[in-house]
Amino acid sequence: LAAAIAAFDGCPLKTQGAKQAVFSRGPGDAPLMVIGEGPGADEDARGQPFVGRAGQLLDRMLKAAGLQERAFITNTVFWRPPGNRTPTPQEQAVCAPFVERAITLVKPKLILLVGGASAKSMLKREEGILSLRGRWFEWRSEDGAIEVPALPSLHPAFLLRQPAAKKKAWQDLLMLAERLDRPERPH
Ligand code: URA
Repeated sequence: LAAAIAAFDGCPLKTQGAKQAVFSRGPGDAPLMVIGEGPGADEDARGQPFVGRAGQLLDRMLKAAGLQERAFITNTVFWRPPGNRTPTPQEQAVCAPFVERAITLVKPKLILLVGGASAKSMLKREEGILSLRGRWFEWRSEDGAIEVPALPSLHPAFLLRQPAAKKKAWQDLLMLAERLDRPERPH
């Protein structure tokens, strides 16, 4: 899938200054998938998602919640938007089949959506992140055949600017960790 993404020419971001495709890091059989917005400058330089300052905060939080080695991390778009702007819904839509393919391959038990641009795009909802965060939704594949519980939360870049909001993000992560370890009830 990483090779297919790198060879894909359909996303306009690819020719707007990005150095390389940035797909994922973390185990391919992880029980948790973390989906961010899109690569920034550090990610573009290193070819891995969430390796800059925001990513380091994300890692510290995942580690503190016992989730770090259990997360497959990716984004809604795979090329850095110029000037780190938010990816547009069109750019996200073009990349969405690859995100869906990643979910069907990894088969995570739960999905964490970080930031409003990720939550809105993955859940097809219009509310702001402060209203979406901390509530469970179902992510559904285009054909409706696959459903995975998804939890929107605050973006670590936002937490770096608004440290007082870390408490809310921490509550979300604890809720996620608790559900991840809860035995699945038979249907
Ligand atoms: N912000 C994101 O949303 N994704 C990254 O990979 C890095 C920063």
